[in-house]
Amino acid sequence: MNTHGRIPPARSVDEITGSRRLRRMRKADWSRRLVRETQLTVDDLIWPIFVIEGENRKEPISAMPGVFRLSPDLAAKEAERAARLGIPAIATFPYVEMGLRDDTGSHVLDPDNVINKATRAIKHAVPEIGIITDVALDPFTSHGHDGILRDGIIVNDETVAVLARAAVAQAEAGADIIAPSDMMDGRIGAIRDALDAAGFQDVAIMSYATKFASAFYGPYREAVGTGGLLKGDKKTYYIDPANTEEALRETEQDIAEGADMVMVKPGLPYLDICRRLKDTFQMPTFAYQVSGEFAMIHAAAQNGWLDYERAMMESLGAFKRAGCDGVLTYFAPEVAELLKG
Ligand code: PBG
Repeated sequence: MNTHGRIPPARSVDEITGSRRLRRMRKADWSRRLVRETQLTVDDLIWPIFVIEGENRKEPISAMPGVFRLSPDLAAKEAERAARLGIPAIATFPYVEMGLRDDTGSHVLDPDNVINKATRAIKHAVPEIGIITDVALDPFTSHGHDGILRDGIIVNDETVAVLARAAVAQAEAGADIIAPSDMMDGRIGAIRDALDAAGFQDVAIMSYATKFASAFYGPYREAVGTGGLLKGDKKTYYIDPANTEEALRETEQDIAEGADMVMVKPGLPYLDICRRLKDTFQMPTFAYQVSGEFAMIHAAAQNGWLDYERAMMESLGAFKRAGCDGVLTYFAPEVAELLKG
């Protein structure tokens, strides 16, 4: 029936809303600021950077505009910049020369590998910035998996033993936080034991408690040179993206084993997991806005499809709204500059 709008409204808006008008507080910038519930600050930022052997070496990563692989000397310079901007911590990820990669990722144990060199260079240049080192075998293995591969299987316990030793080497180099990103069972407890036995009681563990078998890691694999190497997928150790309860069990387990902080990865597609972890465990909770999320915003902005700065800030603000205490993001220095005004 076409009424041509002639049916009078049954109730006025005030009758419908009971005179509640939510737009009242949105009317001006001052009132919006006054009732704003969450705020992103520079204290929420962790900056992941890629390191590579050499000196004064800086290599672009095609899928990550503005991101480079940096030799330890340049990484230290960037750490100085981060500290000046007020960024609390840096997370390092290595690009390992192909000749140094093998089946078991043995170079991860070398006290002089590029990750440990970078830690020492950064600590020397900027002792006041926090250094988070990634513990996983994927940048060191010839097959790109996070663990030791035997007869087509990623062997858990043997991998854990290597990771625990690698964590001690990283702590010896000066790492403040060890961040295992491999998802092997029992790694948090084994790393805690190893750190304590070596006298590193004060070195913390940020567990990648819920790391999903995600498509959003693509650009990262270019950055660390594992993309072309990886045979198969990581579904036997990363979590199925369809699962929430399993993510909770995984996190509960990591906390019981001694994790000081927990992380959700990737970030934006998993905000529900961030919220559930924070509400359930009340732990320091972080999200990793991964390479693919960073690349998507860049790609859309390059096409003129969305406003780069606004999309960047909104995506990061979402993590605070979802209950995160902070976020690992490749946008960190840009955001810190923006927040400084
Ligand atoms: C693996 C690891 C990954 C990332 C960091 N460490 C995922 C992977 O390659 O499977 C992804 C980070 C990113 O995409 O920004 N230990």
